[in-house]
Amino acid sequence: MKKIILTSALIILTIALSGLSHAKVTGACYNCHTMHNSQGGTEMAYQLKGTLDGFEPDVTPNPCLLTTNCIGCHSATGSATWKDPTTGAPIVFNSSAPATPLAGGNFYWVTINESYGHNIFSQDSKLSKAPGDAGFSTCATNGCHANLHGTVSGASALDGRQGCTKCHMVSGSGKTSGYHHANDGTDTKYVETAAKGWYRFLSGHMSGDGHGVAGIEDVDWQATSSASDHNEYLGFHDPGGGYGFGSLGHTTSAFCTGCHAVFHDNQGSGSPWLRHPSDLIIPNSGEYASISTAYNPLVPVARPAGFNWGGSPSGTVAAGTDMVMCLSCHRAHGSPYYKMLRWPYKEGATLSECLSGCNVCHTSKN
Ligand code: HEC
Ligand code: HEC
Ligand code: HEC
Ligand code: HEC
Ligand code: HEC
Ligand code: HEC
Repeated sequence: MKKIILTSALIILTIALSGLSHAKVTGACYNCHTMHNSQGGTEMAYQLKGTLDGFEPDVTPNPCLLTTNCIGCHSATGSATWKDPTTGAPIVFNSSAPATPLAGGNFYWVTINESYGHNIFSQDSKLSKAPGDAGFSTCATNGCHANLHGTVSGASALDGRQGCTKCHMVSGSGKTSGYHHANDGTDTKYVETAAKGWYRFLSGHMSGDGHGVAGIEDVDWQATSSASDHNEYLGFHDPGGGYGFGSLGHTTSAFCTGCHAVFHDNQGSGSPWLRHPSDLIIPNSGEYASISTAYNPLVPVARPAGFNWGGSPSGTVAAGTDMVMCLSCHRAHGSPYYKMLRWPYKEGATLSECLSGCNVCHTSKN
């Protein structure tokens, strides 16, 4: 009797833990892979409909024998973002407004307004290339820097989809394939190598080959967040300028400037600033000295190399140490606001609403 109780307790514990401590894909292969795309003569593969409001069978088998493609697994009808009941995938596109968007935001908003996010579904009518690129938009037809919906000529099907893989290079281009199966540890953890699949599979190519983003990955992708429950982003203050992984190390700003180079390279040096600085240390003087020491997940800061990366996310912000970065102001996928900002900088009804995020650092401007 005791043994049965113990065993059931263990099973319950295992189930409870498997719900939390996921780090690489788990579960039965058939949840995600199909051998012949046929079961009793019916297609097993499915895809998001062209109307983006549901799924339909897909007669074309997918690379890696997958049941669907990137957006197929990572989208949902309805508003739930965490997480797909069959595969466990975090949701980045909902066909109706997401209830709790994850850290990167949600592609739902680009379907409402093309200026609210990265356009993975169709060409942005106002932007024919990545603003601030360093002239490399023409490197290939539909190259990474020209747009995020087109397929790179010559790329494998897995690499060419919806532009997801222009940012998340899960395979190809000299990478070990299979980041989804990479063992990157459990729970909220520091991920900083190709062997662990980098931070959220964000990596580079050409001069950025073999480099990617380092950071602490929150276990539920910030489906819940608080001062002490969030991702941590690496920053690097480079007085010499530059852009990309070569100059800025394994930072998210290096990643963004791989396409938006000029926005880091041309920021000036303070007298006067030409562009808003990124990866600049928030001074421990003037208005910045009064910055709230409680970490605000709405306005994240980057941490230096000396941060306690092996530990838990920190609940505090320190002027004189922490940095402003691209993701302090922008979401990565999309947001309900102009230029995928994190707060209503343009839409706010009052000035203080427009500056609500700016005020977190610019404490005397509220
Ligand atoms: C068959 C379903 C499936 C497909 C297809 C799929 N994913 Fe995933 N993806 C998942 C699951 C499940 C997870 C969550 C793994 C975990 O629990 O950490 C995940 C996690 C991720 C993450 C977050 C990784 C992290 O460190 O938290 C990214 C980024 C991602 N996928 C991108 C992609 C891209 C890009 C593609 C297309 C090349 C893709 N996925 C295709 C199921 C899928
Ligand atoms: C412009 C680059 C870019 C594109 C395009 C892009 N992502 Fe992301 N994605 C990111 C970044 C950066 C993060 C990390 C966000 C953070 O931690 O704040 C991220 C995070 C994620 C996550 C983890 C959940 C989260 O919100 O943190 C998943 C899953 C994911 N992306 C899947 C996808 C899929 C699927 C696509 C294509 C439909 C896609 N991404 C397109 C840059 C991109
Ligand atoms: C939750 C979804 C999921 C489950 C479960 C899953 N896989 Fe995968 N697998 C993926 C995705 C997504 C890719 C392609 C993207 C990538 O490689 O990151 C992939 C790629 C692969 C690849 C080719 C890439 C590589 O690693 O070389 C193999 C082989 C593979 N899976 C085998 C398996 C086997 C065997 C099982 C069962 C033990 C399994 N997978 C279970 C999602 C899953
Ligand atoms: C792989 C190249 C690539 C990367 C990496 C990339 N972007 Fe972009 N970005 C683009 C392209 C192409 C456009 C123009 C088309 C569009 O809006 O999708 C764009 C547009 C934008 C826009 C304007 C959106 C609009 O529609 O008006 C913002 C803001 C932006 N990016 C911020 C970022 C941030 C922040 C990062 C890092 C998390 C980042 N980008 C990483 C390629 C990239
Ligand atoms: C202090 C907040 C802040 C930071 C930090 C920041 N941005 Fe922006 N960004 C904005 C605002 C606000 C806009 C809207 C247009 C404007 O006011 O220039 C914008 C616009 C953009 C655009 C669209 C430009 C266009 O022509 O449509 C891109 C691309 C962009 N930012 C990328 C980045 C990248 C890459 C970084 C990091 C190197 C970054 N931003 C850092 C606030 C910021
Ligand atoms: C995460 C912190 C942070 C956020 C959020 C932030 N800033 Fe800044 N901002 C800084 C830092 C750090 C500097 C450079 C301070 C210095 O000169 O050393 C700066 C400089 C500036 C300057 C130049 C001031 C000067 O002295 O020349 C302006 C203007 C500015 N920011 C506007 C904004 C606006 C508008 C927003 C909101 C869209 C914003 N900032 C959001 C940290 C931030």
